[in-house]
Order: sequence, then C-alpha cells, then structure tokens
Amino acid sequence: MDTIENVLTLDEFRVSEVRNFPAATTELSNLFRDIAFAAKLINVEVNKAGLVDIHGETGTVNVQGEKVKKLDLYAHQQLTGVLKRGISCAGVVSEEMEDVIVFDDKMSIHSKYIVAFDPLDGSSNIDNCISIGTIFGIYLRSSPTGQPCNKEDFMLQGRSTVAAGYVIYGSSTMLVFATSRSVNGFTLDPPIGEFYLSHPNIKCPENGNIYSINHSNYLNYSPGVQKYLDYFLIKNKEEEGSYTMRHVGSMVADLHRNLIKGGIFLNAATNAFPDGRLRLLYECNPWAFIYETAGGRAINGKQRILDVEFKDIHQRTPLFIGSTLMIQQLEMYLAEENL
Ligand code: F6P
Ligand code: MN
Repeated sequence: MDTIENVLTLDEFRVSEVRNFPAATTELSNLFRDIAFAAKLINVEVNKAGLVDIHGETGTVNVQGEKVKKLDLYAHQQLTGVLKRGISCAGVVSEEMEDVIVFDDKMSIHSKYIVAFDPLDGSSNIDNCISIGTIFGIYLRSSPTGQPCNKEDFMLQGRSTVAAGYVIYGSSTMLVFATSRSVNGFTLDPPIGEFYLSHPNIKCPENGNIYSINHSNYLNYSPGVQKYLDYFLIKNKEEEGSYTMRHVGSMVADLHRNLIKGGIFLNAATNAFPDGRLRLLYECNPWAFIYETAGGRAINGKQRILDVEFKDIHQRTPLFIGSTLMIQQLEMYLAEENL
C-alpha cells in the first residue's frame, strides 16, 4: 500500500471524480457520501452485535418469509433515514418493507435518484460472527422532479442502473462503489471513522478456480447445473487442486471474495425455490452491475440479469455470476440441457 499521504480518502476520491469527469454529478456523489455515512452507523452496531442485546430475532417475519433480526431493521432505518435527510434520494425500496417508501419532504421531491437496497444481507449469520453486508443499486427516477415520485419510478430495470455497491462488515469493513466507469473499494479505518481508497479500479479476473454454491441442494438442481458441478469434481480427480469450493452462505462475503480472486457463484432454481432464493432489485441487479463493470458477467441461465424484465419489487431470480470464462462454460452445460 502507498504511504498514507498518497491514499485518497473517500471524500478526496469524490472530489477528484467530479473534477476528472465533468459529467459526474454532485448529486450522485452526495448520495455516495450518504451511503458511506449510513454504512458507518450500521458498522458500529454490527460490531457490537455480540455484546449488547440488540441482536436476536424480533419475532416478526419480513416480506420474504424470513425471520427478521433486530439489526436488519436497524440497518433499514439508518439507511432510510440518512437517504431521506440527504439531497439526492426521492424514495427507496428495501428488502425489509413490503411497499416502496416515497420521500415527500420539501428537499426529497427535488431529488432524482431511487435507491433499492438489502440493508443487511446474510443476517441469519449475525449471531455466528460471520461476515454480512449491505447491497444497494441506484437508479434515476423517470417522473419529473418537484413532486413526490410515483409507482412507475420504482419499476426498476437493471439495465438502467446508474451506480451500485455493497458494504462488507467482515475482518475489515469495506465499501465498494461502482459507476459505469469503474469499481472502487474503500476500507474503513475504524478509530478514525474514515474510508480510504484501498482497492482502486477493481477488475474481476477473466477466469478463476473458485465455485460457490449450496451443494446440499445438488439433487434439486437442473441437469445442466449438476453436470457443471460434476465437471469440477472430475477435474479435481484428474488433478487435485484444479478447483476449490468456497461457500459462506452470506452473499456479500462470497461475491466479494470471488470478485477479487476470480470464480463463479451460483444460486440456482430448486423445487422449493423455482426462481432461486435471491431478489432481483436489491441483490442481483446491483451485483450484476458491479461484476459487469469489473469485467465479469451475470446471467439467470437464459439471459443477462440486467435485462430481466421488472415484474415486482421483491421478485426473485436464479443468479449465476462471476468470471467471464466460467460463466461461458456454464452456458455450454445449460445449452445442452435445453437440447
Ligand atoms: O439473502 C439471501 C441469502 O442469505 C444470501 O446471503 C445467501 O447467498 C443465500 O441467501 C443463501 O441461500 P441458500 O441457503 O439457498 O444457499
Ligand atoms: Mn439478502
């Protein structure tokens, strides 16, 4: 790493982006800062989860039928509150809320962005000290500013994503932010409360040797997915160590690792979840945007994730995402299954 004088803070990075790219708007840059601020608030509580009685289930069930942990709600409230107070966001979609949230205060009606987020992904892992994360996608509203946004503004198409990112609360806390230009990673220095640009211009390796899937569902996957998984086993029999399976079961942890190291992550259709487990708007689209910007790919088995048509804000989709050559090979197996 460079000496500290040469490492940009998140704020210095924001200013340099606006300077270097005149098309970069300060409104998006402000939104980025707001999300970073919410990330710090969430990070403080996530790190205390084992100490204070904030963790544990609230006893309610969220719209996905999953048990809601208190920290999920806390993260949802912090993000929503910070975005409402800021100048850039007109409304949000959250995994935790059945309906969209329209900000109708004086400032927000003039804002041009909609943010879709999963405030705390992998939260069933909180009690076990496993890395968890926040995922977000940023879209332009379609209605004119000056009035509260409407239902159509929330019919979000992946291909219209303006920016996306995630926060990983792990052995370090990192915020990764992607615009159509580049993907950049910032690491939090906790005592100072500053994010530093630690991973400039992240690129997903073209190929990798990691595959990440919940293998216990093998017999419920389609024949193409099964054959693809068999390929890894056969390859390793021929030459041990060709591939390695790594699956935390916390999407942000699995996808962050694979983005940096190269690999493939699969959340495929099963009998119980014919559309897979993951949600399009605030899990798959943001990750697809991040991976594509970094040179990787993301598909649902039939088409590019970012081209999947909007149906409803909580729709699910199978997700296959990773290094381009690994996705290409998976596509060959999936094509055979359709013959
Ligand atoms: O939010 C969904 C999630 O918890 C992801 O973090 C994770 O990748 C996935 O569910 C795990 O699903 P499964 O249990 O099917 O592997
Ligand atoms: Mn999630």
